[in-house]
Amino acid sequence: MPAGFRLLPGRLSRQQQEGLIDAVVAAQATAPFWRPSMPRTGQPLSVTMTNFGSLGWVTDKHGGYRYEPAHPQTGNPWPAMPALLTDLWQELADYPALPEACLVNWYTPESRMGLHVDWDEAATDAAVVSISLGDKARFRLGGPKRGGKTASMVLSSGDVVVLGGEARHCHHGIDRIYPGTSTLLPAEHFPAGGRVNLTMRRVNLA
Ligand code: SIN
Ligand code: FE2
Repeated sequence: MPAGFRLLPGRLSRQQQEGLIDAVVAAQATAPFWRPSMPRTGQPLSVTMTNFGSLGWVTDKHGGYRYEPAHPQTGNPWPAMPALLTDLWQELADYPALPEACLVNWYTPESRMGLHVDWDEAATDAAVVSISLGDKARFRLGGPKRGGKTASMVLSSGDVVVLGGEARHCHHGIDRIYPGTSTLLPAEHFPAGGRVNLTMRRVNLA
């Protein structure tokens, strides 16, 4: 594993996981999940997204990957980041400022995320802190160059991953979801089930 990679299995209790899902559900009132599309091609992603924080990560055909202060469809500011998230950041990120953004990805059973490096942030000196909620997923981690060697691991609900140091510049993605492996996501709000991933990012240099 690259330096700066940490996996904290079961870092969040069931109650903490439920609290985060409640916050994602509450966020729907002003910042509903939407399906973003790829730059240039306009191809839709297989995940739907929303954000917490003063900035949120968005992508669309014409504007490309970027951070925006408001939801692309409702124009509302993103809901505030739950305190549990900023507390976790302060414990794990070892960075002198709070994250502006927490991207929320909802993976349904057929969703994937291709190998990529997070590089839309100026503050690449800050770790990315990532929380898994709901169904298990196979996470893949490679090196800084595309096409290099990779390793995979299964992430479960309540696990926390930190991509700091060298790992901050490494390729990563989600190969697949294992449907029906968690009871966390309430069917009335997540009819297709699946997995919710929260990733906190510091965007601007502190
Ligand atoms: C991401 O790289 O944005 C998401 C990773 C994950 O879903 O665990
Ligand atoms: Fe990422």
